[in-house]
Amino acid sequence: MKTDPCTYVIFGATGNLARIKLIPALYHLDIENRLDDDTKIIAIGRRPWDNDKWTTEVRDMLEAKARGGIDEAVFKRFIARLHYHEGDMQQAECYGSLAQLLTDSAKFPQNMAFYLAINPSDFSHVIEHLSEPNLLDEQQWWRRVIIEKPFGTDLESSRSLQNKISQYLKEQQIYRIDHYLGKGMVQNVLVFRFANSMLEPLWNRNYIDHIQITHSEQLGIGSRGQYYDHTGAMRDMLQSHLLQLLTLVAMEPPVSMEAEDLRDEKVKVLKSIRPISEEAIHAQAFRAQYASGEINGEPVNGYLQEEGIPANSVTETYAAMKLYVDNWRWRGVPFYMRTGKRMEKAQSTISICFRHAPSQLFAHTQAGKIKQNWLLLGIQPEECIRMEMTVKEPGLEMRTRVTNLDASFRNKDELAADAYEDLLLDVIEGDRSLFLRYDEVEYAWKIVDPIINKWSVDRDYIATYPAGSWGPNERRLFEKESQSWRNTL
Ligand code: BG6
Repeated sequence: MKTDPCTYVIFGATGNLARIKLIPALYHLDIENRLDDDTKIIAIGRRPWDNDKWTTEVRDMLEAKARGGIDEAVFKRFIARLHYHEGDMQQAECYGSLAQLLTDSAKFPQNMAFYLAINPSDFSHVIEHLSEPNLLDEQQWWRRVIIEKPFGTDLESSRSLQNKISQYLKEQQIYRIDHYLGKGMVQNVLVFRFANSMLEPLWNRNYIDHIQITHSEQLGIGSRGQYYDHTGAMRDMLQSHLLQLLTLVAMEPPVSMEAEDLRDEKVKVLKSIRPISEEAIHAQAFRAQYASGEINGEPVNGYLQEEGIPANSVTETYAAMKLYVDNWRWRGVPFYMRTGKRMEKAQSTISICFRHAPSQLFAHTQAGKIKQNWLLLGIQPEECIRMEMTVKEPGLEMRTRVTNLDASFRNKDELAADAYEDLLLDVIEGDRSLFLRYDEVEYAWKIVDPIINKWSVDRDYIATYPAGSWGPNERRLFEKESQSWRNTL
């Protein structure tokens, strides 16, 4: 199914995000016949390149990222869409010449999507400049702006960014990306919850003991030292991606799957989260930094030895937090969340631990105390929905074992699309359900603001964990002896 013809304008087109995600995603959409024949892609960059040079660059990007290699017929069609526009986004001339170029409506469709794959400190400046030659005016055509995360660095800066950009854009024109919402398995959380009626009676504090959300990476900070040292794991992952996962697990069924209905329910979850007072920070949040260690048997540096990191940095590369959703459904159920770089395994999971059965009926048999049931939602790299159940072992003895009900949903020949494909397509289709509304961002900052403020002044000490481990051995977040991090699927 083709979509509206449009012009996708990418600011920061020669940067890493465009290279590894955006250009490959647009190419894959072309393969899937989702781009109109007239759709064009304008790359804005400072380098003095022409269209031929840009085409060669794009070929390199696709050689690295195209699924199953480059399809020459599609590539030919794809490069006919490309245009390189040399310009410095800091300078007003860049926007004047862009507007001039875009007046050629025979060549460039007048529906326009502006993707800001740039330093967040430039967001408002670029939007202001785009408004000057009326490029954001929607009188006849749609004009949409896609903003990468982070949207602000705390509550105050996110408010000020919002105030600034809302002078030039209506909320319907703003597409705030959280690429986790484009991941297939993340969308499956909603389908799994709301398409299977048998789950609903169990999905609450009467049956669920606690919920864990984990995102771990084996990678370190690589060459992003400058960005990361000012950001840290709480801002980089927890405030955005992990809180979004929490909203999907905890939300009430929406009135419909329309963007506003869905986002209303997510906001209600964020609003119900018990604020973390200053006294509670120690018990509810924990940070640490990776020291040197081994990943897959290879020695790796600690964070302080990474390029561009000051020797006394206390920026966290691991953050964990306990939250309570104080509403009818979830009151009293702890949500444990953690994320870390240079951990033992790269994995994102939601693990739901159910309460014990009301009575330990088998306690006096060889079976002993029966384990709690877990429901495991593997987001990546393994996508799975798995329910652990206890069954009797065959034989004369009364022994039990844990077995899995596995709801695998991908056939071998069904390839996973990258999150950005979904999201870039949604922009063309005007579907904002997988993008963040401003109030979601604001409530998410409200939740973590007390923690990041406290950590920013506590500069004397940070715990460490060896690279390649599951993080620090710290139990203070857990409410009960029986609770601990679950690392396996
Ligand atoms: C980004 C963070 O938003 O998400 C990175 O800035 C992190 O630090 C990345 O590595 C993780 O995304 P994914 O899709 O690889 O799990």
